[in-house]
Amino acid sequence: MHSVKNATIFLTGGAGFVGSYIVEQLIPLGPKKIIILDNMIRGTFYNMKSFIDNPIVEFIEDDIRNTEKVREIMSQSDYCFHLAALRITRCAENPKEAFDVMVKSNFEIIEAAKEFKIKKLIYSSTASVYGLAQNFPTPESDNPYDNKTFYGAAKMYGEQLLRCYHDMYGLDYVALRYFNIYGPRMDTEGKYTEVMIKWLDCIRDNKEPLIFGDGSTSMDFVYVSDIAKANILALTSDVSDEAFNVGNCRETSLHELLELLIKANESDLKPKYMPDNTINPVSKRIASIDKAKELLGFEPEVTLEEGLKHLSDWYFERVKEKQNDPHSEAVSN
Ligand SMILES: NC(=O)c1ccc[n+]([C@@H]2O[C@H](COP(=O)([O-])OP(=O)(O)OC[C@H]3O[C@@H](n4cnc5c(N)ncnc54)[C@H](O)[C@@H]3O)[C@@H](O)[C@H]2O)c1
Repeated sequence: MHSVKNATIFLTGGAGFVGSYIVEQLIPLGPKKIIILDNMIRGTFYNMKSFIDNPIVEFIEDDIRNTEKVREIMSQSDYCFHLAALRITRCAENPKEAFDVMVKSNFEIIEAAKEFKIKKLIYSSTASVYGLAQNFPTPESDNPYDNKTFYGAAKMYGEQLLRCYHDMYGLDYVALRYFNIYGPRMDTEGKYTEVMIKWLDCIRDNKEPLIFGDGSTSMDFVYVSDIAKANILALTSDVSDEAFNVGNCRETSLHELLELLIKANESDLKPKYMPDNTINPVSKRIASIDKAKELLGFEPEVTLEEGLKHLSDWYFERVKEKQNDPHSEAVSN
């Protein structure tokens, strides 16, 4: 078993949504030091509010494309969680930038992990690697040939490179293929805001929430603290050279999601259906997490109903904070 106690742990993208929850779950396990490298294109001090003043946490505002900095941090570290990445939409808009961040830097990070003998690297991958999967619930053995996105391709490259470095150099790693993550601290204001937040904006403004298409597109929504828990289990287990789905095992259509969100907020708004002009190649998602249950002992704890309530409570708390102090960092991204 691996242990966090007295270890130095390096997180790329640790000021982001998922990374900040991982840090919060690591601290009670007694690490010696946690080093966060984040260029703050999406990370925030608000996300890090609960631990930024903790003396064991060192925050470095820099870019994973700065290979020297990555090597310097890796040389002091025992373990690494590699989370820094661009959003799927940003990769599509800027393939050159996506190559540098998601492919070239992945190589440099994995190369440095090998060189400095990192004990284990936990890699944030994605359900996007499947594209529209062959089987539902989708097992890890489904092939990635239906992925049509740069983002999915780059994440798969990372997984494959890790497998190769494990085979050639014995680098231990686990790749986690997250499904659709949600929860407090998800992006409420940026360009890449998720649909749940847009609907919460409508509930706040008492405006009809819009559904593009017929609402039948389904996803598997998994609460952010469950994702962080899967990361810790992946690090501490003896398992290496494996990829795991991390989902909630509940297929939820957009239509159903909106109904649950409306219910969580005791609202009586009705959705408005709009024609969908975008091409969505992935109309259905649901994870099989049998492998993560068996090998990591992972079990999601937060139901969708509970999670949507936590998300809504946090969202409206933020709205209040913003009204009281429009310049508060707590509400800026
Ligand atoms: N949120 C989801 O639903 C989801 C689903 C599947 C996979 N993932 C993956 O999980 C990981 C974490 O996602 P998240 O939701 O926390 O995203 P996020 O955008 O909140 O976090 C990513 C962090 O990486 C940082 N970053 C980006 N480019 C960087 C660079 N060049 N140098 C240094 N830092 C950089 C950002 O500032 C941000 O803080 C990512 O790898 C993402 O691809 C997320």
